[in-house]
Amino acid sequence: MCIPTAMADHPTSSTPSGDGATAATPPVQHRGLEGVVALDSELSFIDGQAGVLIYRGYRIEDLAEHASFEEVAHLLWHGRLPTQAELDALNRQLRAERPLPQVIVELLYRIPRDANPMAVLRTAVSALALVDPEADDMSREANVRKAIRLTARIPTIIAAYDRIRRGEEPVAPLQSGSTAYDFLYMLTAEKPGQAAERTFDTCLVLHADHGLNASTFTARVIGSTLSDIYSAVTGAIGALKGPLHGGANIEVMKMLRQIDESGVDPAAFVREKLARKERIMGFGHRVYKTMDPRAAILREMVEDLSEERNARRWYDYSTAIMEVMIREKGIYPNVDFFSAPVYHMLGIAADLFTPIFAMSRITGWTAHLLEQWQDNRLIRPRAAYVGPRDLTATPLAER
Ligand code: COA
Repeated sequence: MCIPTAMADHPTSSTPSGDGATAATPPVQHRGLEGVVALDSELSFIDGQAGVLIYRGYRIEDLAEHASFEEVAHLLWHGRLPTQAELDALNRQLRAERPLPQVIVELLYRIPRDANPMAVLRTAVSALALVDPEADDMSREANVRKAIRLTARIPTIIAAYDRIRRGEEPVAPLQSGSTAYDFLYMLTAEKPGQAAERTFDTCLVLHADHGLNASTFTARVIGSTLSDIYSAVTGAIGALKGPLHGGANIEVMKMLRQIDESGVDPAAFVREKLARKERIMGFGHRVYKTMDPRAAILREMVEDLSEERNARRWYDYSTAIMEVMIREKGIYPNVDFFSAPVYHMLGIAADLFTPIFAMSRITGWTAHLLEQWQDNRLIRPRAAYVGPRDLTATPLAER
């Protein structure tokens, strides 16, 4: 059911000339759709004032401690945490689907080596549709199978392209272990330790779903036309790529490295940026007006990793920046701020941070698509037309 929402709660501007609106019923406009409730969802709940995030009833802190990424994927797709037998079955399916069709490997070899890995992922996911005989099968069963297939193959695409661009052969998935384990293995050709696997797995849990964010909304808009899952996920990857969304984690790492390389005081660095009216990436959020609970968990991970790896400076820089932002601007870190130093300390290249976000969020995107198709209604808002209305066309020769 679509709720026509408290549309008049937070009008940012209004105009009497929406497309199709009459002067008697002026539409209320919400720039950036801020505060608009577009649909019902059972997938995740955010309390932006209290800093709470819930997936299907479970607090994110609970899931981060007690559930694996695969258990969360099952929870999002099927509405409940799996039994051991269900988890084993899901892991078997994921492992079986991890190898890439040969044509996709060949495509990765043909792509320029300096391409943006998010653009590569977007292209490869779109191409996967061409070799999936089920691509246009819109039954729920086929869409669940494709959700599993995409969740299994996205890590393989990211790792394979990273190795190809470094002049190395892609490493075939082990087809054993978790998504986190096999991804770290495919990236480095070395079996990861338990601590690295656990840290990475928790990062995947934290990024799996987050309400009607820009990329999820994109996926649902595409899905609402009854287009296929690959089209919707390709669009979602495009939305996630932007620096105001998932792309922020790359910018965070650039900033931390700049501080590290120049030896500048992090607090002074941020103050100067703010004085120039620049945005500090990894801070602020459309919904959270306090600490993002995922950022709180990731911050502890930065602290543990930086102690463990004798790299305390990453924790110190990020803490100093956070303190200035909260004290002087009242703006809190979001998920991208502390995930950047975590991935960096795991030895992952900065431009893979956003693809890794996609590796997890694929579960949320596809769960939202399954939900959308259960009770579909075309998503089609209106624009307020502000252009002229009384022009007449001069013939081309007279213009
Ligand atoms: N750095 C500095 N100031 C920021 C800021 C940031 N990261 N985020 C928001 N602000 C300020 C804005 O300048 C604005 O101040 P003003 O009212 O004095 O002009 C105010 O906070 C509100 O910002 P606004 O852009 O209207 O909020 P929004 O809801 O549209 O933006 C984001 C949300 C996420 C786009 C925004 O916070 C941002 O650009 N953050 C950086 C990118 C990022 O980390 N994205 C990942 C999100 S998970």
